[in-house]
Amino acid sequence: MLPLKLLFVTPEITPIIKTGGLADVSAALPTALQERGVDVRVLIPGYTHVMEALPHKRHVTELMNTGAHGEVHLLEATLPDGVTLLIIDHPQSYERDGGPYIDHNGHDWVDNAQRFGLLSKVGAILGGSLSPLDWHPDIVQCNDWQSALTPAYLHFSPGPNPATVMTIHNMAFQGVFPPVLTTQLGLPASSFGVNGVEYHGQLSFLKAGLYYANHITTVSPTYAEEIQQEPLGFGMQGLLAERYLDLTGIINGIDKHEWNPASDPHLPHPYSADDLSGKAANKAALQHKLGLEVNPDIPLLGIISRLTHQKGLDLLPSIAPALLAMPVQIVILGSGSSELETAFILLAQKSPNQVAAVIGFNEGLSHQIEAGADIFLMPSRFEPCGLNQMYSQCYGTPPIVHATGGLADTVVDATPENIANGSATGFVFKHATAHRLQECIERAISAWHDKEIWQKIQQNGMRRDFSWNRSAAEYMALYENLLGRD
Ligand code: ADP
Ligand code: GLC
Repeated sequence: MLPLKLLFVTPEITPIIKTGGLADVSAALPTALQERGVDVRVLIPGYTHVMEALPHKRHVTELMNTGAHGEVHLLEATLPDGVTLLIIDHPQSYERDGGPYIDHNGHDWVDNAQRFGLLSKVGAILGGSLSPLDWHPDIVQCNDWQSALTPAYLHFSPGPNPATVMTIHNMAFQGVFPPVLTTQLGLPASSFGVNGVEYHGQLSFLKAGLYYANHITTVSPTYAEEIQQEPLGFGMQGLLAERYLDLTGIINGIDKHEWNPASDPHLPHPYSADDLSGKAANKAALQHKLGLEVNPDIPLLGIISRLTHQKGLDLLPSIAPALLAMPVQIVILGSGSSELETAFILLAQKSPNQVAAVIGFNEGLSHQIEAGADIFLMPSRFEPCGLNQMYSQCYGTPPIVHATGGLADTVVDATPENIANGSATGFVFKHATAHRLQECIERAISAWHDKEIWQKIQQNGMRRDFSWNRSAAEYMALYENLLGRD
């Protein structure tokens, strides 16, 4: 059989441009699929970062019919793992200082509808019958709202068309814009309705993807259930519940080349499940680096996160005094809401021996926290999948998580029964309140003091298979099914 051809459309890819887990998925999933014989190409906007990170780009073609954008070119580069990256070269849209979605002041770029309308449009051009390439994908997979108009454009294009998959990484981000943009972005006026791209009187990119894609996936089975109801459906629960037969939850994997404590170049002391001795040395190095008291007997809680309402970290400041009295140490690496950034900076200033707050994005430090912390904290109110709780299990740093989405699907609570049967890998609490979080932290710390039990929980997590193999196989089965090949 000919290899399955997949066009993977995404606004982020690790390590070139990343604001969250979507970037990690966009790097690792195509690689895992290529290893399984899929002929995959990843389409991404030519942001400044992309243009600078990839000096060896080849010109592929000029793209016509992109709407009001003028000259648009398609470039191509090969990533170190052999995956082909297709890059949209349109400097007016993408080459600017700042983030992919926001400027230096934290405001959305005013032309985001046009910028990601263009990404979606190019996805549709390359997927459709009028593509200038002689490579025609069987499947076009879109990721989050930034590429979610692609299925709508394809729906209104002359066929034959590829099958489309809309992958939801986070329902909270929907790409909602004034209705007039529907026709300005080249969609027919008739698409602006309940049975189309309209959402509460506005144009919603995500709604377009959810309505027009042949299939919808999201990044964990529990989240696939949760988004069919309020509140996590964020207004789309009706549509998703109606399409439940076309909705599949596939848990993300993690990149074992990037996240392996035995070979992680960011760690001063490598270690493994069979020999955990290096972990204590990483803890000491982290305490030293961040100015905390270097003491193996104080449990160290680690946090790496976007600081937003989703992540539930606003629950921490009110219980911090009680925790610090236990005593514990807390390390926070993150950025986001200025209120939360300030709260954590103040906490660190008040207790510099016990709390370190590093505001910003720091890949190396994130690996050192995963390795050096004793316990990882992830009290997210909702979490479509979550990657850090999987990284932390691989690093022998059992996570404390709220029972939601992918956290519920990937962490096994250390109940007496699960400890006895060897399945426990972390600590799970229901109801995202400060009180429940505090109880769970206390439960984890008392387990930490029992070194024998603790080591078992660590090793259970480290020996679990979170690799992309399993998830990639599920995506393959889904693609084959969509193409009627199974
Ligand atoms: P989300 O995508 O919702 O932010 P995930 O857990 O899926 O959550 O992925 C977050 C990714 O971003 C992880 O790889 C995590 O390590 C990384 N990350 C988040 N904040 C930071 C930070 N301040 N510095 C370094 N890495 C970070
Ligand atoms: C989103 C979600 C996160 C998920 C990531 C990758 O950013 O918030 O839970 O792990 O996408 O799918």
